[in-house]
Amino acid sequence: MTRLLRVLSGETLSPPPVWLMRQAGRYLPEYRALRAKAGGFLDLCLNPQTATEVTMQPIRRFGFDASILFSDILIIPYAMGQRLWFAEGEGPRLIPIMAITELPEIDSDTIHQRLSASYETLNRLRQQLNPDTTLIGFCGAPWTVASYMVAGRGTPDLKPIRDFSEAYPDQLQAIIDRLVEISSAYLLKQVEAGAQVLQIFESWAQVLRGSQFDRWSRDPISKLIEKVKAEAPNIPIIVFPRKADDGYLKIAKLPWVDGLSIDPDIDLEWASDQLQQHCALQGNLDPMDLVAGPERINRAVDYMKSTIGQGPWIANLGHGIVPQTPIEHVEHFIAKIREV
Ligand code: CP3
Repeated sequence: MTRLLRVLSGETLSPPPVWLMRQAGRYLPEYRALRAKAGGFLDLCLNPQTATEVTMQPIRRFGFDASILFSDILIIPYAMGQRLWFAEGEGPRLIPIMAITELPEIDSDTIHQRLSASYETLNRLRQQLNPDTTLIGFCGAPWTVASYMVAGRGTPDLKPIRDFSEAYPDQLQAIIDRLVEISSAYLLKQVEAGAQVLQIFESWAQVLRGSQFDRWSRDPISKLIEKVKAEAPNIPIIVFPRKADDGYLKIAKLPWVDGLSIDPDIDLEWASDQLQQHCALQGNLDPMDLVAGPERINRAVDYMKSTIGQGPWIANLGHGIVPQTPIEHVEHFIAKIREV
């Protein structure tokens, strides 16, 4: 078993395995060079040769313990027939929908055909990676993906999807149900193609409280995991319910959640007391500490080590690495982790 798989099965390892969310990306000059040649970000994702190459770039440079498929959570709406593009410097754009019936009728074989670059990329990665490097597949959680489908873009206050959930709950339910179905099949095909761990990204649940969180975030994630584990009971699953507050505990308590990725706002004493008895923890260095440099990195790593580091822990960031991060700071973080 790889070191990362051992932690997800409940072992405490010292030093802990380490990787970074968004570890393939714009802070790397070799990524920027390849992206400039490839055209756009979506072209990079949809071509297994370039997607494999950018996934391998940070592995070669830093020797991370895990490698995550290079793609995006919005590849699912793309495969469902919703137009998707990445506007330079502005993030993702889609033609917004108000009902699932606004999307063309596409059968599931065609949907998986449109997702086949991910499967082919995973196949190639498994062949190129050293056996100690764990291969991670992923998808977005239904609420987060739906928030982009309904708004057509990222919205910091999530007003479009919140208004939509109040005005048309049945329409939203239909979108979410369809996402559960397609995403679970997508994850299972990633496992077939070589993924050894799956991560579910719920980036935008912070506006959901109480029963709203249960209905739109927890329950769809739970159904998604249930469907995956019904076919692949041994595949470990990590959930990242960013900024979900008490939602973290609700997700930790779901059966079959093996790991919880925690954001920088989480109190680590609370996390080690309340969350770690249910599952392994992953995180939670603030990406801005990584930008700031060695002193802040050292302090944060020491604190992580003395709290969540006493139990099953995967060292990572609390959210994706930002493009202005100096490469030497990444090297410093990995070296510091490997000496704890
Ligand atoms: O972590 C990895 O290296 C794997 C690949 C990955 C990407 N996006 C690549 C990417 C993963 C797992 C994601 C997840 C993702 N995508 C999330 C959930 C995690 C999170 O960050 O909260 C969300 C909300 C998205 C949607 C998305 N894609 C946004 C908002 C953006 C623009 C933000 C930005 O950084 O520009 C993207 C684009 C994107 N996805 C890039 C990368 C490397 C930047 C592409 C580029 O311009 O080269």
